[in-house]
Order: sequence, then structure tokens, then C-alpha cells
Amino acid sequence: MMGPDPSLVYRPDVDPEAAKHKGSFRNYTSGPLLDRVFTTYKLMHTHQTVDFVRSKHAQFGGFSYKKMTVMEAVDLLDGLVDESDPDVDFPNSFHAFQTAEGIRKAHPDKDWFHLVGLLHDLGKVLALFGEPQWAVVGDTFPVGCRPQASVVFCNSTFQDNTDLQDPRYSTELGMYQPHCGLDRVLMSWGHDEYMYQVMKFNKFSLPPEAFYIIRFHSFYPWHTGNDYQQLCSPQDLAMLPWVQEFNKFDLYTKCPDLPDVDTLRPYYQGLIDKYCPGILSW
Ligand SMILES: [Fe+2]
Repeated sequence: MMGPDPSLVYRPDVDPEAAKHKGSFRNYTSGPLLDRVFTTYKLMHTHQTVDFVRSKHAQFGGFSYKKMTVMEAVDLLDGLVDESDPDVDFPNSFHAFQTAEGIRKAHPDKDWFHLVGLLHDLGKVLALFGEPQWAVVGDTFPVGCRPQASVVFCNSTFQDNTDLQDPRYSTELGMYQPHCGLDRVLMSWGHDEYMYQVMKFNKFSLPPEAFYIIRFHSFYPWHTGNDYQQLCSPQDLAMLPWVQEFNKFDLYTKCPDLPDVDTLRPYYQGLIDKYCPGILSW
């Protein structure tokens, strides 16, 4: 589904007050959107292999798909509803502004962090370049080693993944050295890694924490599930608190009260002009 379904934008079955309680997010066992979510993960966990991820790095590593500013990319996300997300069913650009505003309230002195909120999901423009949702959205996990227990639907979605029949890729460490560092790990392909690469290619002048948060914000099996410790370096453990701090706002600012985007735009345009101006290569 590429456009927002107007009948789903307002969800009368969700009590906005109840939705603010933490326990009601990331519910993968029940809820009105569950079939869509499971289908996305089944496809992802079947087709995300070492060869597949390498082919996507090659395909998108030239940044020849589109020329556009950050704000144009934010607006493009209005055409996208994330089919892996059991919590929201409204256009992604609202989520970008909600996350950014949550961070701004809690960290008023860190303007780079506000901008991370706006930027973090822009890699989802991949879906608008024709990529299937299972190669764009959802939680990420390392390919090239056995999936660990906290991966969503771990026991019911990997049986057709050919890497798990391959002895090089199916042990706990798989193709990696112990504590090699996440920057040497090949993550399942999606909007996190793509946006990280876009930021590097276009030389965003944001601090290293910003690059790191965006690259790993969907790696729930690590930052929330506490798995994959055997791949982490001391640098990863030093960065983890930043990813976790970001995640609070990514998750708990999701609510049906949609922000007034037009009044927020000038502030964020100022941050874009400061850290990532001009027309970018995507
Ligand atoms: Fe995301």
C-alpha cells in the first residue's frame, strides 16, 4: 500500500489516552494491524540474506536516484504508511515532526538531536523508489549469523531464509569476529543504513552520535532486546545510551494528535540550513 488509507488514519478502536501508556506500543501478538505486520516480517526474514544486502549496497551506493532537499524528502514521506509498524497508521512525515518535537522539549540545548528526530526515517523514501516494504521498514538484524531470540517473530519467519542452511552464516558469530564492532556488521537492508549512507555521501555536518543513532535506531534486538553483544565493540557500548535516549521519542511520541506541521517548519528549516543545506543526492 503506497498511499495513506483515509479510513485508517483515524482509528476509533484506539483510545488516545490508553495509547500513551508504554505497554501498548510494539504489540506483536494482537491488534488491528497485526496481519499486515506479520506479512512484512515474514517476507523480510525470508529474503534478507548476505547476498541480498550486498546487492542493495551496490544498487543504492551511487546515490543516483533523486536530487532533493531534506524538506522535499520529508514531504515525500506523506505518501508512505509504514506497514511494519503496529502502532501508527498515519503518514510518516507526522511521525518525523512528532519525534523531533519530543526531543526538542527534553533536550532544548541540543539542536542537532532535534534534527535527528526529523531525519531518522527519511531513508523510507526507498519505498517511493520502488523498493518493497520488507526491504525498507521494520526492525533490523545482522545478516551473516544466526538470528537471536529477541528478533520479532524469530521462531516463525526464518525457516525459508537460505543463509540459515549455510554453515558460514548460521552460527552465533557466523561470518564475524568476536566484538568486531557494529560498523563491520552487515545489517539487514532498510531505511536506517540507507539514510546513514546518504548522510555520509552528502557530508552532513552533524556529530558522530547523530550518524550512529540513525544507522541503528531500528536495531531493537540490540538496543532494546540486549542481544548481539558478541558483535559489539566498546565504541558501540558507548553509543548505546544515545540510541536508547532517541528511542524513547521515536516510540512514545506516536499518538493520534497530529502536529501542526506548518508552524514547525521554519525552525527545522533553520536546522537543515545549518547542518545539511542544499540539494542532496539520494
Ligand atoms: Fe525508523
